[in-house]
Amino acid sequence: MICILDLGTSKISSILVKDEDTNPEVLAFSSIETSGIKTGAIINIGLISEDISKSINELENKSGEKIKDIVVSFSGEQISSIGSTGSAIIRQKEVTARDVQSALNMSSTLKVPNDKTLLFVTPNEYNIDGQPGIAEPIGMNGVRLEARTHLIYCSQNMKENISKCVEELNDLRIQKFYFNQLGAAQSVLTQDQRDLGVCLLDIGAGTTDLTIYKGGSIRFSKVFPYAGDFITETIATSLKITSIQAEEIKKKYGCATLDSDSEDTLRIKGTNGNKEIEISRKALSEVIEKSLTRIISHCANCVEDNGMLNYMPTGYVLTGGTANLEGVQKLGEDVTKTNFEIGLPKVDIPHKSEHLKKPQFSPIIGMIKFCALEKKKQFTFNQSRGIIGRMLEWFRSEFGT
Ligand SMILES: Nc1ncnc2c1ncn2[C@@H]1O[C@H](COP(=O)(O)OP(=O)(O)OP(=O)(O)O)[C@@H](O)[C@H]1O
Ligand SMILES: [Mg+2]
Repeated sequence: MICILDLGTSKISSILVKDEDTNPEVLAFSSIETSGIKTGAIINIGLISEDISKSINELENKSGEKIKDIVVSFSGEQISSIGSTGSAIIRQKEVTARDVQSALNMSSTLKVPNDKTLLFVTPNEYNIDGQPGIAEPIGMNGVRLEARTHLIYCSQNMKENISKCVEELNDLRIQKFYFNQLGAAQSVLTQDQRDLGVCLLDIGAGTTDLTIYKGGSIRFSKVFPYAGDFITETIATSLKITSIQAEEIKKKYGCATLDSDSEDTLRIKGTNGNKEIEISRKALSEVIEKSLTRIISHCANCVEDNGMLNYMPTGYVLTGGTANLEGVQKLGEDVTKTNFEIGLPKVDIPHKSEHLKKPQFSPIIGMIKFCALEKKKQFTFNQSRGIIGRMLEWFRSEFGT
């Protein structure tokens, strides 16, 4: 059984799944609105720990199971990434799991700043004695192994604040912390898109997460501190209404591309309940179009500035709550001038998750399969070291031979 908790800016979601490695089935799901997170970072520990408690209690009540271990999936402005390399001398002519581990360790220890903590290392490819492009080096002969990796890390404080809310204040145990874009990619991208090259955008409430996949692995990732909340705030200030009203009309009537024929007028209650305010639907669309264009252009500029355009021939896939906005695909195509798709959770989704096929749940749904794959990788890695290999490694590390 696995329990995943997604800490988002607008909501805390959790899911309990059985048989996650073989035939996953959702036992319970919960999603609770929250206001203790801003641009992915916890700003109110008391509130977040209460919301986590509510969410986990809901899972326990629905499933009748007691939950102790959880995987935490999150995003945030404080998440950064970098490409790195690390090398190792191949000790016994043939590459072993231990050599791979040494090269990966070296790539991460060299590059992660002191106040940061590593969240994930993904090998992009290996190079043995100058021969690049090796995907699976174990068992190959050579003298020197080099690993090219992509490292994702976050601030130490961010991780400690999450631990405080989950472990200290809720008496739960965190098994793993993962960047939630890894889950989103797992549920919305096809293997072809990841192999050929694609840019995945998750535009949530507080953060826009951008990740580029090529050759099956992550090549680039970046988190921006503006998303759906930025659109809502722009509506509120431009149309002189409250943020709550702006959020409501954005979701109900919002459209990302201006429909020139639309002359509709929306009537909403005034702030003190008296006079109704009239808002033209056109004006609303205009504001949405402008603010969303800024977000998407920012992403497109980031891709270009980092020389990543050639890495993504299949274009963009958009997920996260803002992908629900009417007309967003057309706007995305107009701004990026390339293929721009909407990504719903569709790949390897568990049984009994039909009601969760919404872009805002892509990360939590994909995280189930992602965790199962990571567990399998770890198992295969341990197996590949074999019992004798592991004994030898132990002997060497104990006695330094
Ligand atoms: N139908 C809709 N039209 C427009 N926007 C929508 C719609 N439904 C949801 N949203 C927006 O999606 C955002 C929430 O998305 P999501 O649930 O993916 O964010 P989150 O995971 O809570 O936050 P983050 O990942 O940014 O920390 C909100 O800004 C909300 O207004
Ligand atoms: Mg999110």
